[in-house]
Amino acid sequence: MSIHRYFDRFGGAYVAEVLRRPLEELDEAFAAAMADRAFLAELDTLRADFIGRPTPLLHAANASRENGGAQIYIKMEGLAHTGAHKINNAIAQALLAKRMGKTRIIAETGAGQHGLATASACARLGLECTVYMGEVDVRRQQPNVAAMELYGATVVPVLSGSRTLKDAINEAMRDWAASFADTHYLIGSALGPAPFPDMVRTFQSVIGLETEAQAAEKGLKIDALVACVGGGSNAIGFFSPFIDRASPRLIGAEAGGVGPATGENAVRMTGTAASDGIIHGYKSRFLVDSDGQVAETRSISAGLDYPGIGPQLAALGESGRIEFTGISDSDALDAVKFFARTEGVIFALESAHAGAAALAEAGKLPKDAVVIVNMSGRGDKDIFITSPVFRPVQWRDFLKAELERLESGMDIHVFGGKK
Ligand SMILES: Cc1ncc(COP(=O)(O)O)c(C=O)c1O
Repeated sequence: MSIHRYFDRFGGAYVAEVLRRPLEELDEAFAAAMADRAFLAELDTLRADFIGRPTPLLHAANASRENGGAQIYIKMEGLAHTGAHKINNAIAQALLAKRMGKTRIIAETGAGQHGLATASACARLGLECTVYMGEVDVRRQQPNVAAMELYGATVVPVLSGSRTLKDAINEAMRDWAASFADTHYLIGSALGPAPFPDMVRTFQSVIGLETEAQAAEKGLKIDALVACVGGGSNAIGFFSPFIDRASPRLIGAEAGGVGPATGENAVRMTGTAASDGIIHGYKSRFLVDSDGQVAETRSISAGLDYPGIGPQLAALGESGRIEFTGISDSDALDAVKFFARTEGVIFALESAHAGAAALAEAGKLPKDAVVIVNMSGRGDKDIFITSPVFRPVQWRDFLKAELERLESGMDIHVFGGKK
């Protein structure tokens, strides 16, 4: 029974008894779907027509020249529908859930990208959607909440614990235990109880498979692949076709935040603060406090601000196949500015961690070497975080003017004479 599957000592399915059968059913349905030509053909059509795949592989010639060293290529996942790689997994799991006869999807989200992708996939496939989100995240990610509601999803603010992602996960698990007969829990990263890490990797491997084909088409010999690592779905999908080979080098960028102390970052593989733990249904490396409780983390990028890491990445990090590096908030912000100016491409803050790591690696390599960075998402969503940093005065003036306009009762956004 594959829900006992491990990656070295990480992984497994540590759930309440009531959820063991639903996980086994999911595992069986996943295996059957992957062997069913009709399912794969429908998924391929959705990838092409709904997500907009394949995403391009862009030669960042200007950035490479200015940075010095290796040629940098960007896998443009941010051009995928809803702005990030999360949709690759969301649409595939939603399609699988529908095949299993489920009518309702639940998900949890921190930054909102996974919630957005799930809500969009559910709208497309005609599934009911409920997204759990910590109350703190609901407040700071209003644009994504508004978009999820526009897609028809119900966003449920979670008021327990620190009212962030980990509490939203607990709430989603609780819902699933009571609702699995008609409901699928759509996990958004390569973590959680088995079979989720395998399933999410499989659905995200489209990134790596396309990259391999596009690099071959361009006649490139890849020296290194670089991806950011929150829970780990974009990284494991990007790396997956290459894991069992000796090359290229695989580099994972974690959130170094503002410093090395607990609570100042979200580094599970590079710092000294993480230890083995069993949380949210799987065994991996987690940041914990001195009481052994899940620690508070910190990163400028909400998508990397998670205390755990997918079990396969933890195993591959320990074996040395994947090299990890911690990137600070300020280096990530510099990378956003650098790629925007040199290439006309705005990286999401998460992906900018990979961008910064790619610049550092490429700088050490010769001009004919090739480094490919996965731009897991584009940065439009971060405007509320980057604007106060990049343009503080103009941003404050804009917000003040908007507030004054709202409070004065004047509504410039009236269409066709109707409010
Ligand atoms: C653009 C982007 N990149 C990366 C991540 C991190 O997730 P993962 O590590 O599962 O790819 C997120 C999560 O929200 C994201 O929105």
